[in-house]
Amino acid sequence: MAISALQKERSKYQPKLPKSLRGGAIKLVEGAKTQSVADQAEIAKLFPNTYGMPVISFEEGGAKVSLPAVNVGVILSGGQAPGGHNVISGVFDGLKALNADSKLYGFLGGPGGLVDHQYIELTASIIDEYRNTGGFDIIGSGRTKLEETAQYDKGVEICNKLGIKALIVIGGDDSNTNACVLAEYYLEKKTGIQVIGCPKTIDGDLKNDWIETSFGFDTACKVYSELIGNIERDANSAKKYWHFIKLMGRSASHIGLECALQTQPNICIISEEVEEKKQTLDEVVSTIANAVAKRAEKGDNFGIALIPEGLVEFIPAMKKLISELNDLLAHNDEFNAIQGDEAKSKYVISKLTKESGDVFASLPAGFAKQLTLDRDPHGNVQVSKIETEKLLIEMVEAKLKTMKAAGQYKGKFSAQGHFFGYEGRCAAPSNFDADYCYSLGYTAAVLINQGKSGYMASIRNCEKPADQWIAGGIAITMMMNMERRHGKMKPVIQKALVRLDGAPFRAFAAQREKWAVETDYIYPGPIQYFGPTEVCDQPTCTLKLEKAGK
Ligand code: FBP
Repeated sequence: MAISALQKERSKYQPKLPKSLRGGAIKLVEGAKTQSVADQAEIAKLFPNTYGMPVISFEEGGAKVSLPAVNVGVILSGGQAPGGHNVISGVFDGLKALNADSKLYGFLGGPGGLVDHQYIELTASIIDEYRNTGGFDIIGSGRTKLEETAQYDKGVEICNKLGIKALIVIGGDDSNTNACVLAEYYLEKKTGIQVIGCPKTIDGDLKNDWIETSFGFDTACKVYSELIGNIERDANSAKKYWHFIKLMGRSASHIGLECALQTQPNICIISEEVEEKKQTLDEVVSTIANAVAKRAEKGDNFGIALIPEGLVEFIPAMKKLISELNDLLAHNDEFNAIQGDEAKSKYVISKLTKESGDVFASLPAGFAKQLTLDRDPHGNVQVSKIETEKLLIEMVEAKLKTMKAAGQYKGKFSAQGHFFGYEGRCAAPSNFDADYCYSLGYTAAVLINQGKSGYMASIRNCEKPADQWIAGGIAITMMMNMERRHGKMKPVIQKALVRLDGAPFRAFAAQREKWAVETDYIYPGPIQYFGPTEVCDQPTCTLKLEKAGK
């Protein structure tokens, strides 16, 4: 297979590991018993075998022992994130370092591969082909939700057949919640199969004191920031367009915030703030229109507005509408049988509450239709299919017309919409993600060898050089709380949204009024893999600010 010159060179990169994982002899240090972030009594009851397990850190030293060979299965779950292949190569190298006879199997196409018994053995030559590359194509990913005991039992069948003693689930909050449920079930049934999770998602919303960032966030944000910087430079050259850029991140606005810190656009909407201030769609539109008018006063009829993908779900009236739509459209054959968009829309309005029906009716028809599209298997609205950037362009244009008529705006408004998401999810991992992912994978292998289950691999101290990182494991139950899902209270990993009292948001808020009016753009340029460490090895602004702001 032909590969690019960069990929060829990059395949030689040896990812860095924390010092504790480098020597071969690893000491396991256990902390005190832990508890979940909330709802302790309920979570403890639901997870009798995996609740309260201590935080584990690995330290250098300890006796160098030979460990028995072990067969392990790995699953990639959910959306792609840069570095997934390095997690797998880290697992592979970790297992082989502990015992060269260990084997690694990859389940194909996500969790469904475990249930349907689709797998390959990941040999050294396959692994070598994928080192330091982006994508999840080594085994593929999927969004099948593991939630039924019949699925877990199918997993046991194939594990027994292949002699697999442990599974590694590489996924986001929902997938790791499922991994913990699986770990608990396998312990309860005494199957002898361990389950370890790894924190993946470009969205950056799987993090806490122990999981400092989810992998892929660093690379994806750097790719989007490069593209935003390029567009900023184009806008500042042509001086004729406002660019509305929707950025991926299903729920939290971490990606938007990080890209704003890297590129200093005129506007960046943060969904969590919109929700906190209970803003309406009209208020969001006014914020943007006012900035457009202010810049126009200086003769600057151009600008950049970053829009988080999940915005619509954070506007209270829209959130209510979407939640009603979720209930209404779940397994609704009546709706599915209706022919024609207009008839579908009428049906929906007739079934919603008056308030939500009015909101639905007030939306441009195309946008309203997007809200009724299929949900993903976890019940989430597929926000990547909702063209919020186009909705906002339309609404800002209308608002500016009214402002012009009232003599409050004199400029010209011409806008371009963009959506950056898929452009960054499979990029070749930055040095940070290449090292972080490899370390996570290696850590998962060590956790398995130590007989652990229900843990997530954790790497801390990430703002420091890799040799100072702290590797270990965190009980997944520690991150859980109870939330309503599909009308029922369920134990789930608590999603980390942007904190308005957090250092990254405060740094952004302190500057944004200036950025709104002035042209203060920063052009980060492409990810660099070779060169000075200030250019190649820096973690995200979010991570650095969070660590400095504590
Ligand atoms: P994960 O939560 O599985 O990591 O996926 C995140 C994400 O990239 C979101 O940012 C986006 O909304 C969604 O996946 C898109 O999903 P799909 O790949 O199914 O279009």
